[in-house]
Amino acid sequence: MAIMSITSAKVVALNTLPADSVYLFSYAADNGRTGLRLAYSENGKDWKSLGVNSPIDFVKSDFGPWGSHKTMFDPVLKRTDAGWRLTWFVSGKRQTVACADSRDFKKWSPQQYADIKDAGKFDVVSTDSPTEITVKIGDKEYKGQCRPVERKVVDTLLAFSQQRHEKDMQNAERMEDDSIRFADLKPFRVSLSRSDLPHVNVSPDLFGIFFEDINYGADGGLYAELIQNRDFEYKPNESGTDGWGPAFAWSLYDKSGKLPLSFSETNPLHPNNKTYLSLSANNKGFNLENSGFDGINLKKDNTYRFSFFVRLPQGGKRKFTVCLLDNSNNPVATQRITVSGNEWGKYSAVLKPNADVKDGHLRIVIPSKTDCDIDMVSLFPSDTYKGRPNGLRRDLAETLEALKPKFVRFPGGCVAHGNGIDNIYDWKGSVGALEERKPLYNLWGYHQTRGLGYHEFLEFCEDIGASPLPVLSAGVPCQNSGRAWCGSTNELTTMGQQNGMPDDMLDSYIQDILDLIEYCNGSTNTTWGALRAKNGHPEPFNLKYLGIGNEDMITEVFEERFRKIYNAVRKAHPDIQIVGTVGPFFEGTDYDEGWRLARELHIPIVDEHYYVEPGWLINNQDYYDDYSRGIDATKVYLGEYASHVPGRKSNMETALSTALYLTAVERNSDIVAMTSYAPLLAKKGHTQWRPDLIYFDNDSVNLTTDYYIQKLYGNNQGDKYLPVKAKFDTYNKAARKRVGVSLMNDSKTGAQILKLVNANPVAVTVSQDLLSNGGEYEVTSFYGEPADEQVVPMTEIKTVNADIELPPYSFMVIKTKK
Ligand code: AHR
Repeated sequence: MAIMSITSAKVVALNTLPADSVYLFSYAADNGRTGLRLAYSENGKDWKSLGVNSPIDFVKSDFGPWGSHKTMFDPVLKRTDAGWRLTWFVSGKRQTVACADSRDFKKWSPQQYADIKDAGKFDVVSTDSPTEITVKIGDKEYKGQCRPVERKVVDTLLAFSQQRHEKDMQNAERMEDDSIRFADLKPFRVSLSRSDLPHVNVSPDLFGIFFEDINYGADGGLYAELIQNRDFEYKPNESGTDGWGPAFAWSLYDKSGKLPLSFSETNPLHPNNKTYLSLSANNKGFNLENSGFDGINLKKDNTYRFSFFVRLPQGGKRKFTVCLLDNSNNPVATQRITVSGNEWGKYSAVLKPNADVKDGHLRIVIPSKTDCDIDMVSLFPSDTYKGRPNGLRRDLAETLEALKPKFVRFPGGCVAHGNGIDNIYDWKGSVGALEERKPLYNLWGYHQTRGLGYHEFLEFCEDIGASPLPVLSAGVPCQNSGRAWCGSTNELTTMGQQNGMPDDMLDSYIQDILDLIEYCNGSTNTTWGALRAKNGHPEPFNLKYLGIGNEDMITEVFEERFRKIYNAVRKAHPDIQIVGTVGPFFEGTDYDEGWRLARELHIPIVDEHYYVEPGWLINNQDYYDDYSRGIDATKVYLGEYASHVPGRKSNMETALSTALYLTAVERNSDIVAMTSYAPLLAKKGHTQWRPDLIYFDNDSVNLTTDYYIQKLYGNNQGDKYLPVKAKFDTYNKAARKRVGVSLMNDSKTGAQILKLVNANPVAVTVSQDLLSNGGEYEVTSFYGEPADEQVVPMTEIKTVNADIELPPYSFMVIKTKK
């Protein structure tokens, strides 16, 4: 067995180094937290690690949940006919073996995993045997494998290390160092004129939004429901450590104080919504209270629709009182509701607070001597977006609408493919009567009622004039699923962390996907089209995009399932544009494998993701320039991206680096069909991921600098990109890179749109003959210091002359006046 051969390896004396060879040492360090590291030595005594300044991880283990869980122990390299095979243990328990191949240590095959008892399948006939030794690199000792290799192997690795170092240096370019980097830079001039290159037809759906229920984006966020855990379906996490459960956000009191809540699952309101509150009243009656999501925010004189399902097991009639209270327990609105009978019934009331309340709560006064069962307690502002009853928070929805997104991707992100097969987002469980929806554990660590479900997403798209882009799992859960491998040994118990759906499950899953298309587009004579009509929308939703997969590991397990889904959808609905996936990074195994598959299957669009440093965006503006074009070339949906600085803030540095990069995206908008920044929404105090485009609490919405960039791009898109020549009067290459230009025409309105970015610390004068000299334009300027977080763009109508002054660190959009 390859992995075991470490201990039985034939010891090669280190003084028998063949001519033109050096020693190569392979190891992993830091208690498994590194990936494969390599060092070399001419004499077997003095070792140098491969990597400039610090050692490179040539490949990292991709097994298990994010971050520090992905570990590598006892890596063993073997020679194969095609290059190298690496095997390693994925944890210190040494139960699960991983394997990957490489020709050159730069590109690696997809990783495979097996229980130790099956690790024999990773064995190869080796043409050499490593020696297990301990060597000193710098001042630390490492245990690993040593073997002689031809000098050219190490020479190639040294060149690779140098290239990697140069890239890392570029990526690390930060604006806080600009006073040093650009110490001698003086304000400069750039002359712009139209080039002879043909125009580029701009994708009409270039700018969209990515919605995921992360950071309390849905429940407690965009979804306007004010009662938390309205269905008593909150469940504790697997270790039971998070305090979640059916009583979460609820309290029960009588005159003597706080009481435990009791729940039942017998004869529930609906099998999908099993748990309900079951109270046996004492003589004095109860107060049942819900604290909302960090309190309930109420506006004076607005109306709020309260409803709940109740049954009285003893029958009869009872008068309940429902109140909204401020945080000193003063009622600001009260209504009485008469409940009757021993069958579930829905009761409602409208409440109108007589004061503004920021941190209120709901109280239901249960009369004395009353046994009652309660479920689905709900409170909605009437003032939702477009007034929809099960609607969205108006301020947040309008903030999204203002971006003018051409499409909305939902429901994720990782939420779409879930934490393990049983957590994959099933669209059917998210539509229909609210009490019939299936609540779902959210892999970001909380709960989804799915009151904001597929139907509501589709309606929202329609309301804002955006195309829906649902993203569904490719029959595999999240590549970082913890639960696929948390067995009794806390390691993999079944094959592969992406142990995808078994065949019979996959068949019905594929049917679900076809049913979704019917739900969106089918006539009302069809089963699912009829359900859409029953749910209040007889007209089709005109679905044209369907995402399959989300930044998955492109393994055999993935590929097998993706192909089946892809072929089934293509066959039944050739008109639907499928959006495939190419992994979580802008390069690497999943990216390479994903693109290979895309080209083979002619997938119309693939979803690329990259969260990168501003330096990456500044220095990779040519990223798409060489992507293959052509009539049936696969296009790109840059579905998740953001500029990340230490501290994960959104500031002028992240905003300007993004704006700069987007000028290059617009230049390539024949091949980049769609983009969406991620994530979109984050509730203050409940943020799992930063930065986000929009932060909010119950009462207010805070827009980031990156929000304004998205808004300026989304609101200023033309349909023809006109290439421009730029002549600089500075030779400073770094400064030239920080100037971005994009000129577009909008054929519908005849408007010209010029976007100019200056991410330099000095002013830049743009002399141009692109716009009509002396003409009046709508000019939006956005500038500030790189670390500034609170900057707002300003728009004015101005005469634009041949010379345009761009302040330091600025973005300007100039558009023909309406
Ligand atoms: O945007 C946040 C997360 O980043 C998404 O859920 C996932 O797709 C990516 O890893």
